[in-house]
Amino acid sequence: MAAPCSSMMYAKYGAAAFTAVNASIISKAVAAPTASVGTSFQGLTQQQAMTLTTNLGAFLVVAYGGPNTYQGKSMLAAHQGLNITEAQYDYFVSNVVVPALSENGVPTADIMNCFAPPVTEKKAGSVKCDTVQSGPRPSGCP
Ligand code: HEM
Repeated sequence: MAAPCSSMMYAKYGAAAFTAVNASIISKAVAAPTASVGTSFQGLTQQQAMTLTTNLGAFLVVAYGGPNTYQGKSMLAAHQGLNITEAQYDYFVSNVVVPALSENGVPTADIMNCFAPPVTEKKAGSVKCDTVQSGPRPSGCP
């Protein structure tokens, strides 16, 4: 289960911080080496990139306790066919998501204790288990 503090992050940091972190995640994702994250971000049309920005922004708000306006796909459907491996996923979390949070002023303790759990937990239906669809199954994922 995600740490109890995960659901308090939206109240703590607010909408503007979430918008800023989301923008950082998108720009770092697009700039990330394809050798580490694969080519899926490069393959997006401008329209798809805009949809991703809207939907990822809303997804993050819900995941951390904000109002639910998410209208995107399930994580399973969103990442279907992208062939994301566990190594690519872990790289993305460590080298895209974590720096996006810290560069926007989130202290390490909140990143590790509160922001990390929803995207690192491994159980049926979790973000990680549903997003990683290629290569060996992450241990703990069905
Ligand atoms: C923290 C982990 C992740 C979260 C929370 C996440 C979340 C999302 C969300 C909410 C969407 C939008 C779904 C929609 O528009 O219906 C999405 C799409 C996408 N994700 Fe992820 N994702 C994660 C990891 C990754 C990783 C590791 C990659 C690639 C290495 C990736 C590549 C993509 C791409 C390319 C799309 C756009 C797909 C399309 O428009 O066809 N994601 N993701």
